Parts: sequence; C-alpha cells; structure tokens
Amino acid sequence: MKTPIRDFINEYIESAPLRLHMPGHKGNAYFGFEKFDVTEVDGADDLYGADGIIAESENNASQLFGARTFYSTEGCSLAIKTMLFLAIKHAKETGLAPIIAAGRNAHKSFISAAALIGFDVNWIYSPTEENYLTCKITAKSLSEFLDNQKNTPCAVYLTSPDYLGNVTDVKEIAKVLKARNILLLVDNAHGAYLKFLQPSLHPIDLGADMCCDSAHKTLPCLTGGAYLHLSKNLPENLARQVKDAMALFGSTSPSYLILQSLDILNAYLADGYKEKLLGYVNQVNALKNELLGAGYVLVGNEPLKITVNTKSYGYTGQEFNQVLKNKGLVCEFYDPDYTVLMLTPDVNLERLKNALLSIPKKEKIKTFPPKLNRPIKVTDIRQATLSECEKISVKEAKGKILASASVSCPPAVPILVCGEKIDDDAIRCFHYYGIEEIFVTK
Ligand SMILES: Cc1ncc(COP(=O)(O)O)c(C=O)c1O
Repeated sequence: MKTPIRDFINEYIESAPLRLHMPGHKGNAYFGFEKFDVTEVDGADDLYGADGIIAESENNASQLFGARTFYSTEGCSLAIKTMLFLAIKHAKETGLAPIIAAGRNAHKSFISAAALIGFDVNWIYSPTEENYLTCKITAKSLSEFLDNQKNTPCAVYLTSPDYLGNVTDVKEIAKVLKARNILLLVDNAHGAYLKFLQPSLHPIDLGADMCCDSAHKTLPCLTGGAYLHLSKNLPENLARQVKDAMALFGSTSPSYLILQSLDILNAYLADGYKEKLLGYVNQVNALKNELLGAGYVLVGNEPLKITVNTKSYGYTGQEFNQVLKNKGLVCEFYDPDYTVLMLTPDVNLERLKNALLSIPKKEKIKTFPPKLNRPIKVTDIRQATLSECEKISVKEAKGKILASASVSCPPAVPILVCGEKIDDDAIRCFHYYGIEEIFVTK
C-alpha cells in the first residue's frame, strides 16, 4: 500500500529548501525529528480540506477498515467530539431528539463533548453494576432501557472495549438499534486492532454507524494518531460534514509527524499484520491460561489486554504495580483492585511470562471498592461546566454539585458527572480512588 504523505515529506527533505514557513525550528534537529515536521506548504494538502496526499492516505485507511475513515491528529478525544456533533446534527436534520443514551463508563471526552455541544445525556447503567470502569450492556438490557425512555434518543453511545478489557456484544446491540432507527456510536479507542482479528470484531463490521479508534493505543502509531470511521450505510451527507465538524474542535495546525505515522501504518497493516496478530493472539491466550493455572484471576475478554484482579492474588493494584516496576515492567494502568497490561506483537511475551510467574501468590485480600449508587442529576453537564465554580476538599463536598469531571488519565472515566450531587457514596469513592480535591459549583 502506498504512503503518499511520507513520500511527499521525504522528497521535500531531499530538495533541501530554505524553510520560510512554520514551524519555527526550520527543520533543524533540536530534538531530532524536526526535519519531518512540516506544515501545509504547497502539495502537503490540508487535513480539514483534504483533496491531495492526505485524502489519498485516508482512502487507503478506508480500504483497510472497510469504512469511510478520517484521520485525527488529536486522538480519539477529537474524533469522539466530532462523532457526537455529527449525530446531533443528523438528529436535528431528521427531526429526532438531541439526546444521547450512553453507557455510564464513558471517557471524559464524552463529557467534554456534552459540555461543548450541549446535548442531553441519558445514562445507561449496567444491570449488574460492576465498577465504574465497566458497564455491561446486552441487547436485552438495552431493549428494556429503551422501552422505558420517555423520549427516544437519537443515538446510543457505547465504550467497547473498556479500560479493563471488556468487549461488548456490538453485533446484537446493533440489531436492536437498527430496528428502532437509532444510531449506534462506539468509542473503540482501545480496539483499532480488532479489525484485523479473524473474524473481525471491529464495531463497524458488527453494525455500528460510527466509531473511533485510537490508532496510537494498540497499533504502532505516534501518540495522538486516531481514526473516525463512518459506516458506508450512513447517508453521504454526513460523511461530507466530517471535516468541517472536526475542524470545529481541532487545532488549525495538525501534526504532520502524526499524519506520517498514520500513513506509514497503512502500509504496515496491509503487509502481513493480520497473520502476525493472529499468531500473537494465540500465544497471548496460551500465556493467559498459564497465568490462570498459577492462580491469577484475569478480567475481561479483550485479546490483547491482560487485566489482573490483583487482590485475588494477594496484592492491591498499587502493590502489584510496584512489584512489576521492580522487575522492569511498566503497566498501562493500576488502581486499588486491578492492573492493566496492554500488549502488541512488539511485546516480548517470554519476558512478561517470566516476570508474572515469578511473583509469589499471597493470601487473597478481601476488600472491595465502595458501592456507588446511581447519582442524582441536579443540572445538565453544560450548565454545570459553565457555572461559577470553586475547588474544595472532597471532605467538604457533601451536598455540593460537581462542576468538572475531576478525573485524570488514565483511566479518565468520571466517577461522578458534572451537574450531579455529591453524596456520602461519591465521597467514599473519590477517597478510594485517590481524588482529594474537586471543583464544585458555587
Ligand atoms: C475509552 C477511551 N476513550 C477515549 C479515549 C481518548 O483517546 P485519546 O487519548 O486517543 O484522545 C481514551 C484514552 O485513554 C479512552 O481510554
């Protein structure tokens, strides 16, 4: 597969021009990679008005993903805002209610989108209420939820895979929503590689109308590289609005380093990645089985994540993380209960296996995360975000209204959403997850 962006930049470098344009480093190696970092010079195309090398590269990605695929150089965060804007625009154009029904474990960028765009959110809670990072939704539970809604939402928004590696049955859910003429939007930030499994588990292949993937999370791409995919079944009119919608939220100076990375990635994915991935997934499955045999309890069904329920193995998530660090392993995420390891075929499984199997199993820790009952909404997300606010200690927050998502990354999943009332449950959860100060409305 061709790499038009990379080829253009290489030719540009070879022609050794006097750079009388941005960026200010002029291609000199202050860091090392500056020569590749250009801007919209003649021939370099324009991400938000692409009709040249970027359009060609996006077409290549579209072929690989079997969708209408668009690049984001500002992560899934930008693609998520764009996707939601398009859904609301579509709702207004077709007379549907500008309401999004969303799984409660949505990432912070969903909350930002609600604050910026101002749509209403109806939260979908898991029937089994696991923890705030997981929201198990089935076709049946979703149908029941929709039957009980006063106003039908224009779209349902799911996060799959979630941070712990749970993959939702998108196929069955898509059937329910098709029958009801409701769009299905999927935050597939953690699942770009699902496209290349056999069979594909990518949300677009399973019936989602739009989804976004962080290429940088699970594929060899620079941080910030992401995709917004539109199903080919969506009206052409929506696809035509993608670039303008993305430009609403994105920087006018997208990174050409990230664009080159996405461009080169197409060639990588087209050239034997599928076979490499399948072989690797088999090895990961074998490793997971060995870990289970050694007494580990693993969570989730995502092929390239190993999520350890550390307390079952005798460690808090923090302690387990420290043990890993002492062995030279740096995990993706840990909290008091879990440690998440993210794999790609570049990760040496033998080294990982030796490290994990050398950790002694200890007596199970029998404490659980505090239960968070369904919070009470006082104002909507936009109103709370725009309100006058102050930072206070969580200890003094009882009865106040949350004004800002108050979560850091990872996992950037809000425990409480802006506009919700802070009660004893929420305070216990904030303390448990190490959040000591929050913004509340004045
Ligand atoms: C579930 C989920 N959605 C969206 C995002 C945002 O992705 P990005 O970092 O590519 O902007 C993240 C980032 O961690 C995430 O975990």
